[in-house]
Amino acid sequence: MKNIYSNIFSFNKKILHKCITNLKRGNVVGMPTETVYGLGGNAYSKLAVQKIYRLKKRPKKNPLIVHYLNYKDADKDVIFNRDFYKLYKKFCPGPITFVLRKKNKSKIQSLVTAKLNTVAIRFPSHKTTRLVLKKLNFPLAMPSANLSSGISPVNAQDVSEEFNKKIKIIINSGNSKIGIESTVVSLIGKPKILRPGIIGAKTIKKILKISIFKKSSKIRSPGMLKKHYSPGIPVILNKKRAEKNCALITFGKKYENKTNYFNLSKKSDLKEAASNLYKTFRKIKKQGFKKIFVVKIPNVDEGIAINDRLKRAAY
Ligand code: TXA
Ligand code: MG
Repeated sequence: MKNIYSNIFSFNKKILHKCITNLKRGNVVGMPTETVYGLGGNAYSKLAVQKIYRLKKRPKKNPLIVHYLNYKDADKDVIFNRDFYKLYKKFCPGPITFVLRKKNKSKIQSLVTAKLNTVAIRFPSHKTTRLVLKKLNFPLAMPSANLSSGISPVNAQDVSEEFNKKIKIIINSGNSKIGIESTVVSLIGKPKILRPGIIGAKTIKKILKISIFKKSSKIRSPGMLKKHYSPGIPVILNKKRAEKNCALITFGKKYENKTNYFNLSKKSDLKEAASNLYKTFRKIKKQGFKKIFVVKIPNVDEGIAINDRLKRAAY
């Protein structure tokens, strides 16, 4: 098959070098991570960060996550605390993001943090991302590689379709293993989950006391917009069947195979369902369905993160 995506590259030494050169020049690169694909740029470069916001059409008030190889690299930019060390030791590198106070002398661009005095930092576990980070002497500001308010990409083709030829390099590493974005935890004052993810509250609670972001509390994470993760067509939740000519997202073995049925996990595995969620949204949209109905997904464990995304997609 002809490769129509001329900006997608498999990872090798040559592309690593090209990627590093581009990032050093203030360009942005599409990159795999274990959660979703990201659009990475030098977090210390105004030029690079501006490009990220422009390409994503992202509101300037929605701050970006800064990615590091390890905590030693982040030490110059943020103030660590005991809760951070506890969670870092247990979960990093991995799919969790920490909001911490920014150091005054940090070189992180103020646009990255939407002028807040806090920064969200993450230590991705994906091998490729780590190889890139190892070669840089700056961290990467890296939001999910999609247009603002849409659904995150989980493979290189998704990224290419979001931005077409506007980005020159997308590193291909197959499908992201986790398939939804990292858990975001604020460690300022009482620890709080701002965005649920695959590492759930139950798991975090084993290590420290934590509360969950409530709709009623004032918006603490500027990115927690009510409408987000939208596939661009209406999404209707908690339905047992779909209207005529519409798609139904199902879960579990009791649902038969129909051409408009898309099962997130036949074996009712919530982790598998999470990894299939965005892929399924894109598939349904590509097949031209006008509406998506979704069956009830158990609101436990990884289901909490799935339902969070579904609720926003349906808003
Ligand atoms: O898994 C992920 O986290 C992916 C991969 C690429 O690393 N990245 C990602 O980035 O999901 P993005 O930009 O799509 O989402 C960042 C989230 C937003 O909800 C944003 O508001 C929040 O993190 N955030 C960033 N900085 C913050 C801060 N200082 N305080 C509170 N929330 C912050
Ligand atoms: Mg995003």
